[in-house]
Amino acid sequence: MSKKTSIVLDKLAEYEAAKRSTQPLYDEWSQTYEQDLVGNLGYTGHLIAANALASVAPNKGASIIDIGCGTGLVGQKLKALGYLRIDGIDISEAMLNVARPKAIYNKLLSGDLMKTTVIEAGAYQAAVCAGSFAPGHLGPECYPEIIRMVQSGSPIVIFMNGAHFVEDGYQAHIDRLAQSGIWTVIEIKAFNYMNALERPGRLIVARKC
Ligand SMILES: C[S@@+](CC[C@H](N)C(=O)[O-])C[C@H]1O[C@@H](n2cnc3c(N)ncnc32)[C@H](O)[C@@H]1O
Repeated sequence: MSKKTSIVLDKLAEYEAAKRSTQPLYDEWSQTYEQDLVGNLGYTGHLIAANALASVAPNKGASIIDIGCGTGLVGQKLKALGYLRIDGIDISEAMLNVARPKAIYNKLLSGDLMKTTVIEAGAYQAAVCAGSFAPGHLGPECYPEIIRMVQSGSPIVIFMNGAHFVEDGYQAHIDRLAQSGIWTVIEIKAFNYMNALERPGRLIVARKC
């Protein structure tokens, strides 16, 4: 791993440990994010999430919201898989500015997903998110906001770090929503998501009731 990549990962870990909003970090990191994560570390979270969405959302014309879309890695893979109607939302304007010229997304929205967003209820037929649930990013409290954005019967695919999944009690939040009849869980599966590191992740696939 290069010295610069290791410095940015250490910084990210500091923000997460302090549970401090990572927006300034992503604003600063945006220009080299893809080189550090995909190029140097072999990050595959975006591929895992996009492939999982494809397995539960066969309609390539479905309207999809990419939650915490960053520089557009998930959208890029979805476009390659043939999806035609993808929007993205992220808190970091600098990350969105990297995504914009790729011309993958119909709309790119700036917003904090820990609050109610400008997105109308039931606006989308699927939601996908890779790498954006973690301390200082999104937490399980924003599941209701994501569920609000999609229509009944829509798939919701989330890929996240496995250590945070366990430490922050995500399973209990997921089960509570299932017990309340808000979504049904299709699968929860473990994957390593960095080719250059041992970095276990969790894929969560659910469907809004
Ligand atoms: C690790 S990146 C993942 C980006 C992209 N999904 C990927 O797989 O490359 C996390 C993203 O979450 C965004 N983010 C963090 N907190 C957020 C919040 N409260 N609301 C919206 N986006 C947030 C960051 O700006 C960043 O772009």
